[in-house]
Amino acid sequence: MKMERLPPVTSSLQPSNHPYLNGAWTPLLEEVDATDLDVIEGAIPTDIDGVYVRNTENQVQQPLGRYHPFDGDGMVHMISFKDGHADYRNRFIRTRGFEAEQEAGQSLWGGLMDGPGVSLRPGFGAHGGLKDSSSTDVVVHGGKIVSTFYQCGEAYWLDPETLEQGGVASWGPLDGVSAHTKVDEATGELLFFNYSKHAPYMHYGVVDRHGKLTHYTPVPLPGARLPHDMAFSANYSILNDLPVFWDEELLKRGIHAVRAHDGLPSRFAVIPRYGQAKDVRWFEARPTYILHFLNAYEDGDEVVMDAYFQENPTPRPLADAPDGYGHMMGFLDEHSFLPRLHRYRFNLKTGETTERHLDERTLEFGMFNQRYAGKPYRYAYSTTSKPGWFLFTGFVKHDLETGESWQVSLPDGRYASEAPFVPRIGAQDEDDGYLVSFIIDETAGRSECVLIDCKRFEDGPVCRIALPHKISSGTHAVWADRELIRNGFVAA
Ligand SMILES: [Fe+2]
Repeated sequence: MKMERLPPVTSSLQPSNHPYLNGAWTPLLEEVDATDLDVIEGAIPTDIDGVYVRNTENQVQQPLGRYHPFDGDGMVHMISFKDGHADYRNRFIRTRGFEAEQEAGQSLWGGLMDGPGVSLRPGFGAHGGLKDSSSTDVVVHGGKIVSTFYQCGEAYWLDPETLEQGGVASWGPLDGVSAHTKVDEATGELLFFNYSKHAPYMHYGVVDRHGKLTHYTPVPLPGARLPHDMAFSANYSILNDLPVFWDEELLKRGIHAVRAHDGLPSRFAVIPRYGQAKDVRWFEARPTYILHFLNAYEDGDEVVMDAYFQENPTPRPLADAPDGYGHMMGFLDEHSFLPRLHRYRFNLKTGETTERHLDERTLEFGMFNQRYAGKPYRYAYSTTSKPGWFLFTGFVKHDLETGESWQVSLPDGRYASEAPFVPRIGAQDEDDGYLVSFIIDETAGRSECVLIDCKRFEDGPVCRIALPHKISSGTHAVWADRELIRNGFVAA
């Protein structure tokens, strides 16, 4: 491996015992370019060609108030595979907020857990008081990496070969872009939504593969809501209005407190890809909150959508958490909010919803083969997590046709990142490919990239590649074939 370090960023962060500024969540402040990575075990597959891109949260400046890991500055890590070789690089996303804090040499914005008046500058997004750190999600669209923030910020562009900063995406509307934009690899379109504290409270849009906003429409809601993700089938997009959102009375005083609103159902908006507000069909379902969806597809008169249904969307504060962090740690702990793999069927003829769990285990952060996005699919890949912590401990593969499943559990002290499916070049079957993930090895104090052959799932990693430094944990990741980067779409 050959490695070059970039000049260091300016940091005012002090050591602390914060549960999400230590261990696997220790911020990484270093930016590097590394070529010809060393293989620890196995061999780098020669039948994949593309990039795995991971967004992580790395707080650079000393927090003004109480830190929440979703406040951290966005950093993109990329490993590029070609002809059995792998290169790696990582960069902070130079958001307006990051640049302003570099200039000031300190934090300028409070975080998710802070009350009004902590931020020293007006904030961004739906919340209004936060820094837009672009640290939540990442996709590849129109030949560019696009990073986004869950509270609706600007979409930031980076080059998918060099990680050169491309600045703010020109197509982003005034109300911003939520995390979980969706790229339909078959057409190259990017589908997105945003939400805000003012009517109509939500919009939905489509950007073509040349980066042109081709559709933007209001999807009016009864009030301020907190949708996090969306789904799409070949002809429809599916948005949501779930009964877990900011307390309306406290919000009038500038306090952003999330609570369950008893008596309200979950509602899902099924809208044609280029539909208007008048075309939305609303479907009601059991109350819950959903962070993430898997795939959706059409089956006769029905739209089928898979999701992670939360049994307990407003968990109690986590016992044994450090003072002042119990509430935060409960909301970050899947074993507190209990997401279950769940299938909805929305009948477009009758307007009825049917729904059921597909598994009773605590699973989230699902992935599937993107060649099947919007179409009937068979295989889903979920992550398992460490009780009490936002840390991934392994993966479960489901055959949604037979109900069979297979599990890989990591040894103690090793934590995974979100693991997209990488189709093998020339693959004939849906599960002919790999899961790719970054691993943080807390015991050894280093990180690596692993690939799991999905046809031999329970064998565990077939290849382990050393990364040049220990990365921080984070939220989302994506795989992009070189063909998607080059052409903006993947030919059928
Ligand atoms: Fe997310």
